[in-house]
Amino acid sequence: MATSDSTKRTLVELEANSPEKVTALFDGIRGIFDFDIAGRQQTDWQAIRDAWLSRKTGLLTLIGDNWLKPAPKELKPVVGQEFQKLKSHVEATLESKRKEMEAAAENAAAARDQIDLSLPGVERAIGTRHLIRQTYEELERIFLSIGFTVVEGPEIETPYYNFEALNIPEHHPARDNMDTFYIEGSRAGHLLRTHTSPMQIRTMEKEKPPVRIIVPGKVYRRDNPDATHGYMFHQIEGLAVDTDITFCEFKGTVEYFVREFLGPKARTRLRPSYFPFTEPSAEVDASCHVCGGSGCRVCKFSGWIELFGSGMVNPAVYGFVGGDYDPAKLSGFAFGMGVDRLAMMKYGISELPVLTQNDVRFLRQFP
Ligand code: PHE
Repeated sequence: MATSDSTKRTLVELEANSPEKVTALFDGIRGIFDFDIAGRQQTDWQAIRDAWLSRKTGLLTLIGDNWLKPAPKELKPVVGQEFQKLKSHVEATLESKRKEMEAAAENAAAARDQIDLSLPGVERAIGTRHLIRQTYEELERIFLSIGFTVVEGPEIETPYYNFEALNIPEHHPARDNMDTFYIEGSRAGHLLRTHTSPMQIRTMEKEKPPVRIIVPGKVYRRDNPDATHGYMFHQIEGLAVDTDITFCEFKGTVEYFVREFLGPKARTRLRPSYFPFTEPSAEVDASCHVCGGSGCRVCKFSGWIELFGSGMVNPAVYGFVGGDYDPAKLSGFAFGMGVDRLAMMKYGISELPVLTQNDVRFLRQFP
């Protein structure tokens, strides 16, 4: 900068030997200052201030030291006057620049903070409980209200709990429709449970009778996927064991459940069935919730809809549990419901895959 050269020299060295020349020198400096400040960003305010007003290195200090202090006596008044003029000019300009900068920052902040309360808010989509979850909650509500409690168990099981202890020996044909996934590697010998029934055994091993439990959870089967089958589905198991449970309690509980789940008009029918771990076994049907029993497409014109499998606990099962579970003193019933099936039936859904595809157009129908 030209200033640094001239401000380092004295007036004598600069040959400013008349008031006019002194004034011209100061005018030059003032021009440089004006040029400097005009070309800067507002945010540079501090930097300009330092360059010009810093006590040790600022240009005005240099001018004071080099021009004013050593000025010849006859020029001193004019140098002093010009010096004061320049100094006030620099200070005043910087001050107004600073105010400008602060005002601009305030305006920007105010603009940022301005809230228009009449604008619609940002709508965030709030998730809903999935239909399967809602159905589970409905099932749990019904059974909790009559004294059952909820327990959960592992999805990775041993063949013992999934089959043997439920009276399904190896090579038993009942294993055929429960083909599943077998784990390799460090947990070899394990499988993905095909039903929630293993928790009957695990619960009785841990808890003394009486027990009244329901077991929600995922189960797996090597089914070929189609409109009503996948490799995974949801079940809820039920088990009640006590000293005085007869087929009557079993039937009454099932009928109560059906009326709670499908409405007071629903009727119940028990059909003979077979499960190795119940004896006798029954398939629970309900009168068709669409036609009320007169016959329609939904019930395939039979008037009945199959709901779930159930039965009185086979005494052989107590034999696997041992301990306090004496088949001579205890009796009980069990059931296993397909939750996806119940949900599809109740809400008129014909395709199982929509339950796991997470398509919001489907999910939004069940807020
Ligand atoms: N576990 C059986 C199944 O998955 C259902 C069932 C449970 C049947 C309890 C009777 C008693 O098919």
